[in-house]
Amino acid sequence: MKRAVCPGSFDPVTYGHLDIIKRASLQFDEVVVAVLANRTKASLFSVEERMEMIRLTTADFKNVRVDSWQGLLVDYCKANSVQAIVKGLRAVTDFDYELQMAQVNLQGVGVETMFMATAPTHSFLSSSIVKELAHYGGDVSSMVPGIVNEALKARVAGK
Ligand code: PNS
Repeated sequence: MKRAVCPGSFDPVTYGHLDIIKRASLQFDEVVVAVLANRTKASLFSVEERMEMIRLTTADFKNVRVDSWQGLLVDYCKANSVQAIVKGLRAVTDFDYELQMAQVNLQGVGVETMFMATAPTHSFLSSSIVKELAHYGGDVSSMVPGIVNEALKARVAGK
């Protein structure tokens, strides 16, 4: 069985993430979407809230499941027999950091990273942009699924 992981902070999941997850699910027997900590980012949603949003929005993808992990991504891969890490690349600005992580992860336990080109319609999209827009009352309905949009509105309103 070829198992891949789509790792990220997913705070919250966007249509950009979902496009990569869906396309990865067509290439592998199983895709695990793993919610991990990014120590450089403060989060708006709890890990459980983020997982639930991903569960609900990937329910139609039968070979996709959701998990979380507190430690290094390579340790998750080792513990769960994951053969490949799948990441979306939006623009050249993503590349330096992603290449560095891919090389560290390859050197560590030999886990391959496969980069997928983000669909052009999503190339500007990030969770950070979505949160910034939502914070100031901007319309993010074209960037995130309805349930994520509602969760953002509630969180911004202090709920
Ligand atoms: O969605 P993000 O925030 O760009 O995802 C980054 C993430 C969470 C995948 C990355 O920070 C990560 O892998 N964190 C887990 C710890 C780890 O393995 N760090 C990589 C060291 S090279």
